[in-house]
Amino acid sequence: MRPEVRIAWALAGALALTVFLIDALTPLDIAIAVFYVVVVLLVASSGGRTATVCAAWGCVLLTLAGFALSHDDSVSTGAIARCAVSLLAIATTSYLALRNQTATADLREQVEERKQAERALERTEAFLLDAQRLSRTASIATRLPEGTMWWSDEAYRIFDYTRDVTPSIDAILARTHPDDLALVRNAYENEKGGAPVIDVEHRLRMPDGAIKHVHYVAHVVQRSGELEYAGALMDITETTLAQEALARSTAELAHVTRISMLGELAASIAHETTQPIAAIVTCGDAALRWLNRPQPDLAEAKQSITQMIRDAKRASDVIQRIRAMAKKHEGPAARFALNGTVEEALELVRGELDRHSVAVRVQLAEPSPAVCGDRVQLQQVLINVIMNGTQAMAGQNAPRRLHIATRMFDDNHAHVIVEDSGPGIGEESAGRIFNAFFTTKADGMGMGLSICRSIVEAHGGRIWAEGAAQGGASLQFILPVDRETCDEQPAG
Ligand SMILES: Nc1ncnc2c1ncn2[C@@H]1O[C@H](COP(=O)(O)OP(=O)(O)OP(=O)(O)O)[C@@H](O)[C@H]1O
Ligand SMILES: [Mg+2]
Repeated sequence: MRPEVRIAWALAGALALTVFLIDALTPLDIAIAVFYVVVVLLVASSGGRTATVCAAWGCVLLTLAGFALSHDDSVSTGAIARCAVSLLAIATTSYLALRNQTATADLREQVEERKQAERALERTEAFLLDAQRLSRTASIATRLPEGTMWWSDEAYRIFDYTRDVTPSIDAILARTHPDDLALVRNAYENEKGGAPVIDVEHRLRMPDGAIKHVHYVAHVVQRSGELEYAGALMDITETTLAQEALARSTAELAHVTRISMLGELAASIAHETTQPIAAIVTCGDAALRWLNRPQPDLAEAKQSITQMIRDAKRASDVIQRIRAMAKKHEGPAARFALNGTVEEALELVRGELDRHSVAVRVQLAEPSPAVCGDRVQLQQVLINVIMNGTQAMAGQNAPRRLHIATRMFDDNHAHVIVEDSGPGIGEESAGRIFNAFFTTKADGMGMGLSICRSIVEAHGGRIWAEGAAQGGASLQFILPVDRETCDEQPAG
């Protein structure tokens, strides 16, 4: 119990006792019991409903007891009237005190509800402010035509203004990047013209020279008959900078990809022209020898020079094909006999095979499967695979045997097999031999098989390696056979 309540109740008790004693023991002809109302009021002001009701009943009982004690035999009408007045006063005061208590309780409840609503509002405002700060989104309200503005805290932060600055279009224009002034003015004019939606992205230039990118979106709302825009201003500087960085990286990546493609292109050209150039040098040497004889053999020299021209032409053809492949242009597609291409390729590397004492066995399908594609490119595949086999056997004393075969793989595919009697492909290299720049040779480029795979796959085929029956490697590829869908061209 609070001290002031305790004092009030002690006072009430003392007063009740005093009134009772005077009422019961003194022969006063006044309605002294009326003072009980003060007791009721004292209790009502400090206690609840129950205490008030109890005090009221207590006072009624004390009034009756006082009346009974002071009037034992003769009861005058005046005494009865005074007692009745006292009881009526106690009842009326109690009733009014109780009503007052009910009204006060209602009022307290309303005040409490209001306080709760205010607290909820404060919380919502705090959430909103937090959300605005975190998302860097400000609120801007604009009333037209006078142009009165209201900015949220975040708007002041974005524009970098202190709270004493009055929000206005001039304040916004003062922070707008000079190159975007027309854009912002135009958006404001549209607002004045009553456009339903405003959506504009522009830059701000801060006093320290820093640039911010912002996005303003607003829509029109009618408030009490006036034109007003409710808008959101988003600081999108980070997103914009990230997008710009992404665009830069993409451009750089494209550049690097082009450079690496160029590297592969150069490597392919270098790889594929090595063999014809070596052949040209050999034929040139031979031609010189024929001419340097005391009796020059012009016929032989002529033959060597013809071969030199053929090899040079082939080198130039190869370069053209590789360039076309790199540009993703289709090479000239023609229908040709696979067996003929195998024989041509063998003819072109005959010198190398002889130099390395390789015994070649050729087994060709009869009739020859016809395929559609670029004959020079397929010759390249065969030359690369034959050269790899020859190089693999170069260091060995054991017989160097090369077996080349063509046959049908299934109804729709022709099959080419090139087997050597070399050491075979090591397990650790097996999965990588078709990768560009993978080589186990000191002077290798690692481009041969990668070029072969590009060519075979561009022709709709597949290439793979196996172990050969005679112990070496077996390189095999299949190509779709042509069902006369390709223009027939004379094999040249
Ligand atoms: N017939 C084969 N026998 C054994 N290993 C082979 C054979 N053919 C290819 N390889 C292995 O595959 C690797 C890749 O061959 P690829 O033709 O792509 O490149 P390379 O011959 O090394 O170099 P280059 O680019 O000069 O042709 C070779 O280094 C070799 O290890
Ligand atoms: Mg090779």
